[in-house]
Amino acid sequence: MSQKILILGVNGFIGSSLTERILNEKPDWEVYGMDMSTHKLQESIDNERFHFIEGDITINKEWIAYHIKKCDVVLPLVAIATPSTYVNDPLRVFELDFEANLEIIRQCVRHKKRVLFPSTSEVYGMSSDSEFHEEDSNLVLGPIHKERWIYSCSKQLMDRVIYAYGKHEDFKFTLFRPFNWVGPKLDNILEQKEGGSRVLTQFISNILHGKDIKLVNGGQQRRSFTCIDDGISALMKIIENKDGCAQGRIFNIGNPKNDVSIKELAELLVSLIKTYPKYASMAANTKLITVEGKDYYGAGYQDVSARVPSIQNAMQYLNWEPTTDLEASLRKTLDYHLADPNSDI
Ligand code: UGA
Repeated sequence: MSQKILILGVNGFIGSSLTERILNEKPDWEVYGMDMSTHKLQESIDNERFHFIEGDITINKEWIAYHIKKCDVVLPLVAIATPSTYVNDPLRVFELDFEANLEIIRQCVRHKKRVLFPSTSEVYGMSSDSEFHEEDSNLVLGPIHKERWIYSCSKQLMDRVIYAYGKHEDFKFTLFRPFNWVGPKLDNILEQKEGGSRVLTQFISNILHGKDIKLVNGGQQRRSFTCIDDGISALMKIIENKDGCAQGRIFNIGNPKNDVSIKELAELLVSLIKTYPKYASMAANTKLITVEGKDYYGAGYQDVSARVPSIQNAMQYLNWEPTTDLEASLRKTLDYHLADPNSDI
């Protein structure tokens, strides 16, 4: 069935990858996208089924209103998703991730458009469950002065608003929760400022700039890293929504088999970069050091010690399962950044 898909934040890590997959695999689907730049969209920008406009969701409201009416499915992907910003600029996180997106959600409710909203693994916070389950796990956040939780809390509130619209106003939605997706185009590895990236890209950047890898609080905390390709496969199934399988549901999209400590991630990364001749000596010279969370991020930081998704819902309703192991996920990211030995970092 042909679909018109509106992606706000189309030049982001998820938006750009999803657009590429849609254009490659679905000859009768069209993508309408807005973002503030196009640098992650090289593969898609010239495709006649991709309609891009440069703009800001907080300013270009008319374009958005028109395209919400025109399209079948809306993915509002614009958000700040880097922990250092939660701590250092929490109000901007609330304004963009919650307030700006709420306006868009309300328009979708008004025009009865289906929404796929990016919730987050962060909503589970410091839950002690060995696997986080969409319907059963409690969502556990720290005290107010631990400002890190403003992102989790903003996303959780939006989840609750969307759920309520679904239950009480016949709104069609799916919430998806990425668990530490990694891959090409996640963050800019040339960015020298520490804290501006998610952990994998931060570590790659540190190695290539001859800096120590900083293990926050010793690096015993764990994450389940998920290859973007697997994540996008899940999103495709959610958009397809075969027999309404995704309707009104929440899906963790993660890879429980790729559960490692941050220290193990650093060690694996160093060993993999040693296999790229141009960068091997940089990896060999990299030291792993421990830093305190409050020194690295600020006093408002608090961490999650373990984060493993239950993917029962996604397996059962979407018939989806991740297939890319951690090493392959890292190699794919590294190949993107390093494989061409003549390219600059
Ligand atoms: C992330 C971000 O909030 C979002 O990208 C997203 O919503 C969600 O989780 C997700 O992707 O599932 P987090 O996993 O804490 O949160 O973010 P990272 O910046 O990737 O950090 C992972 C861990 O590495 C943290 O424990 C952090 O303290 C540690 N870290 C980070 C270091 O030890 N050293 C660094 O230089 C950077």
